[in-house]
Amino acid sequence: MTDSSQSIATTRRAYRLTPADRGLRLQQVREAAPTPGPNEVLVGIEAVSLNYRDLLVLRGELGPVREGLIPLSDGAGRVVATGVDVTRWRAGDRVAPTFYRDWVVGPYREAYGPSALGGGDTDGMLADLVVVPEASLAPVPDSLSLEEAATLPCAALTAWQALVVRGGLAVGDTLLVQGTGGVALFGLQIASAFGAKTIVLSSSDEKRERATKLGAFATVNYRTTPDWDVEVRELTGGLGVSHILELGGPDTFDRSLRALAAWGHIAQIGVFTGFGPHSNLMRLQLINGTIDGINVGSAEQFEAMNAFLAEHLIRPVIDRTFSFDETQAAYDELASGRHFGKLVIRL
Ligand SMILES: NC(=O)c1ccc[n+]([C@@H]2O[C@H](COP(=O)([O-])OP(=O)(O)OC[C@H]3O[C@@H](n4cnc5c(N)ncnc54)[C@H](OP(=O)(O)O)[C@@H]3O)[C@@H](O)[C@H]2O)c1
Repeated sequence: MTDSSQSIATTRRAYRLTPADRGLRLQQVREAAPTPGPNEVLVGIEAVSLNYRDLLVLRGELGPVREGLIPLSDGAGRVVATGVDVTRWRAGDRVAPTFYRDWVVGPYREAYGPSALGGGDTDGMLADLVVVPEASLAPVPDSLSLEEAATLPCAALTAWQALVVRGGLAVGDTLLVQGTGGVALFGLQIASAFGAKTIVLSSSDEKRERATKLGAFATVNYRTTPDWDVEVRELTGGLGVSHILELGGPDTFDRSLRALAAWGHIAQIGVFTGFGPHSNLMRLQLINGTIDGINVGSAEQFEAMNAFLAEHLIRPVIDRTFSFDETQAAYDELASGRHFGKLVIRL
């Protein structure tokens, strides 16, 4: 192991998941710090961010997790020490681990599934020192703080894979996003940088105003306008939108199909209304549409996205930042749905 500092902490602070009456609960621990193997890097995590998935993990709705798992997929920090065979990173480098620890390059393989950070059997980022393989780290752009960078690994990369890697987003395209959470707002920001127009659905008129300030071409309140697909078609001159980030799931999918333009592209991403079965896909056939299943992205995609964000000076929208001791409050805030963009915990 090599490092540039004289003293590396021998203990770390973390949260681990332990069984509760319903689902799991967060337990703060202090424990021995991990040490990196030959191809691994010890990262001092300085900030983490929350995703809707982290609520599902805590509630036990994403399947079983190992007792004592460290939760959260998203973090950013600095390299503290490197294993003897590590060539790419040096102490002090600003880095963020990739959501799928084992998905480095190329297309997705099912074998990568269990390596998703902060779920199942794979420890996540809610600790101030973590060990990760060197190949799974992406550099953090100089343009972003570590708190901002901590919002990128899941939500931003999901929007990036959906729109850019798989969707072929182009100038003049139109996009529909559902809600004003992490994936939706990154979708809006990326689309704007491509010269595409975004329609934002939100249950809050105050958040609609904020989305307009952030660059939305139009907004629709999906509570007061439950037939939002009709409104979306009107807003696009009757054509429908060319891309949709489908975040709702079974209760929104039919409307998304009706809001989609001919030759359009749906990225199936979200589960806000559950994991149930989807609709009759006949309309997709009739309009020569496409649906892609999206599950975050690879380290290679993460690095390309970060370069794009830096080039276009895109800054993540952080709603609130919590302290490490306020972690439960951060989860509660996420569950309330009050947030606009991302919630961050500073370690
Ligand atoms: N497949 C993947 O790789 C992947 C990756 C990331 C996320 N996801 C999924 O994508 C979804 C978004 O995740 P996130 O972390 O960005 O969520 P988030 O930040 O927690 O977003 C919350 C916001 O979404 C909106 N919302 C909630 N229920 C809605 C509904 N039924 N219809 C429309 N909007 C609704 C609300 O916005 P308003 O207050 O404005 O109404 C809410 O404030 C989740 O289902 C998550 O599990 C999947």
